[in-house]
Amino acid sequence: MKKIACFCFFFIFLLVNREANSQQKSGIIDFKEIHRPQFHFTPVSKWMNDPNGMVFYKGVFHLFYQYYPEASVWGPMHWGHATSKDLIHWEHKPIALFPDSLGYIFSGSAVVDVNNTTGFANNGETPLVAIFTHHDPAGEKEKRIDFQKQSLAYSLDEGKTWVKYEGNPVIENPGIIDFRDPKVMWYEKDKKWLMTLATKDKITFYSSPNLKTWKKESDFGENVGAHGGVWECPDLFQLELNGKSEWVLLVSINPGGPNGGSATQYFTGDFDGSKFTPHSTETKWLDWGTDNYAGVTWSNTAKRKIFIGWMSNWQYANLVPTDPWRSAMTIPRELSLKKVNNSFYLASAPVKELDKIVSSVIKVPASTLQENMNLSEVIKDFKGQFQLKLSSDQPEDFSILIANDLGEELIIGYDKQAGQYFIDRSKAGKKDFEAGFAKKHTAPRLAASNSMDLTVVFDAASVELFADKGLTVMTDIFFPVQTMNKLFLKFSPGMKPNNLSLSKIEGIWK
Ligand code: FRU
Repeated sequence: MKKIACFCFFFIFLLVNREANSQQKSGIIDFKEIHRPQFHFTPVSKWMNDPNGMVFYKGVFHLFYQYYPEASVWGPMHWGHATSKDLIHWEHKPIALFPDSLGYIFSGSAVVDVNNTTGFANNGETPLVAIFTHHDPAGEKEKRIDFQKQSLAYSLDEGKTWVKYEGNPVIENPGIIDFRDPKVMWYEKDKKWLMTLATKDKITFYSSPNLKTWKKESDFGENVGAHGGVWECPDLFQLELNGKSEWVLLVSINPGGPNGGSATQYFTGDFDGSKFTPHSTETKWLDWGTDNYAGVTWSNTAKRKIFIGWMSNWQYANLVPTDPWRSAMTIPRELSLKKVNNSFYLASAPVKELDKIVSSVIKVPASTLQENMNLSEVIKDFKGQFQLKLSSDQPEDFSILIANDLGEELIIGYDKQAGQYFIDRSKAGKKDFEAGFAKKHTAPRLAASNSMDLTVVFDAASVELFADKGLTVMTDIFFPVQTMNKLFLKFSPGMKPNNLSLSKIEGIWK
């Protein structure tokens, strides 16, 4: 009976998934709905949260994601799947992992098992291995504390189809309710796999020779960083600065973010194969906006560290006014390390591949910039999708305002006295779906020098601000009732901005 039920369940999900993709192909879902991001990844329909299992293999970037194919709210988690050759244009693929007798498929990572340490390949193939959390809803309902465990699945056909490992789970729960989101990497020095796992409001490191048997190495997190909520979706990787390699640990936290709800903090430090020692105990935020959560980096991209985050916030993710899908991913970002006042910081920039869809670049010469300027006369018909680059050697207060004929407006700016960037979405459109949504968010300026530079990327329902070479980042979503079609720039006397650049960004859904 149980087997028949499982089979029916599986069959229904196959149908739902096929239906979603064929709806897109046949044009029923044309990606032209109001608020549909035009160059950010979204599922064809239904609910999405965290990016999962990101791995680069044979020229293809795989993006898996937390997905519930039956409704536009969070539910029994699957891994949805999409692929891209350039991080910009995405192809929707069939669902990769379905819930099973051990539970829902929560977040996790994927690696290329080049040496077949798992033994999953028999005929010389290279296994792709997904390491994820099994979340048992029955155990949770019974108020047990051990309902999250770590498991494996593998693919021998370059990520097209996946088989769950018969020995699951590979890490049993030691009695910690929040025990999830394994991010795995190969640690060449000791020739072993390393797992970074979120364990309540800490991180636990494990190691393994074969991804199947794991040994606990150490815990990290007491008395460091922010602890306003549970720690989730960590990532550990190396970045070079001035020829020296440093370690970076990303940790998402919910709630407890700097502007409310969920956000991602990070630590820099040393890692000796067993233990992470931070350079400082200070809390640092990868993104100060409210809408970049659970982001991690792609595996197997050599020295390039490419990040993508879920562009939403648990505070209102289930309530945002989009249909027939819910949630988008951020633009993929390249991460780098910088030193400011002798302290390490992580910087983010849109991946260079974004330039592929940036068109009609207009340079507005500094000499023609006025303190109060209607830029919609310069960049016409941009339909809410554009990129703006502004810099100044003498930053003063300024604001960039996008608006529409209904008087809805979103303001991005800098408050010199406070030393803060801000995004004000309080009048940017729909807001009644959640009391805390319509707010102004702020982020401290962190620059090493006085000169300022900004890149701002706008899509139909999101803004991403990268300031001072990506040292301060803010990502916010908003929901205008009509497309934003007006753009204004205001700055205080004395600011003397340099040439301004404006460009349209083409949509990716053809
Ligand atoms: C983060 C998170 C993860 C969990 C997943 C469930 O947003 O809560 O910790 O694995 O979402 O969908």
